[in-house]
Amino acid sequence: MILGTSVSTGNRHAPAHCGSLFTMTLVRLPDPERARRWCAEQRADGRSVGFVPTMGALHEGHLALVRRAVAENDVVCVSIFVNPLQFNDPKDLARYPRDFDADAAQLERVGCEMVFSGTLQQFFPKVKQADQIVTRDPGPCAEGLEGASRPGHFGGVATICERLFRVVGPGRAYFGEKDFQQSLVVKQLARELGFPEIVVCPTVREPSGLAYSSRNVLLTDAERQQATCLSKALFALRRAWHNGKRDAIELRTVMLHELEHGGVQVEYAELRDPHAWTVESPTGPMLRAQALVAARVGKVRLIDNLRLDRDDDVGAQ
Ligand code: PAF
Repeated sequence: MILGTSVSTGNRHAPAHCGSLFTMTLVRLPDPERARRWCAEQRADGRSVGFVPTMGALHEGHLALVRRAVAENDVVCVSIFVNPLQFNDPKDLARYPRDFDADAAQLERVGCEMVFSGTLQQFFPKVKQADQIVTRDPGPCAEGLEGASRPGHFGGVATICERLFRVVGPGRAYFGEKDFQQSLVVKQLARELGFPEIVVCPTVREPSGLAYSSRNVLLTDAERQQATCLSKALFALRRAWHNGKRDAIELRTVMLHELEHGGVQVEYAELRDPHAWTVESPTGPMLRAQALVAARVGKVRLIDNLRLDRDDDVGAQ
């Protein structure tokens, strides 16, 4: 990994007279302090800063967020930090894929101006040991589903997101809808901090329907095939919704049936009102519904979700 250097990239801000000869550089910064200074300079020069926080192992889902950020802001920066505070399973943290140089090469191609990283110590310089870091209360949307399956996860997410937002000072920050519950937690955090605007972008899917995820690279070919049953179950559920099914328990049964057919180990397959998060599963007829699933395929834990009463995400598949 080479940090603190620049490489040539596209011609996003090329003045017209410079044509294609003008190249921008992707700035790679190795620590949050230098990133903070870079972002402060951008803002002082009157440029809006769009931000995409990531843990690296970038895929089409991340690149869609960066492209949207590039379209909506003067400059875009991306953080790559595998945040230990949000992993409740040390094995999951250890095997999380990491390839900074490949990530930087992808970011260059989509017109990101700056990428930064850092160590836990650099993000929390006042603290000597990771276990001394006091994590933020992630709020009520962190309860249930992912929050129940991964204790402490959303506290770790909210804590690092606050730190990253304070480093970057973005006007807008971009998150994927694939992590639906995370997007609720982050919106709550942004409301509490008073910034940034949170832009939630549709899930991007492989042609098979499988949602892009950094963890997909850990699947064998057979498991990757098996993993498509998550999206198949969700889209079957959306068809059931469009055919008039509204009862929460009946809908859930449709989803479980599809997942059991696919042979994955289901952790949860649930419905929630996307505008009113509840810990308990709803019963009775639903007005709006987000279907959410978590399952293990071999050793890999995958999540996916789909809004049933809307289909404006089809372009993202
Ligand atoms: O979604 C992720 O990749 C992470 O949870 C995030 C938002 C970068 C925080 O570490």
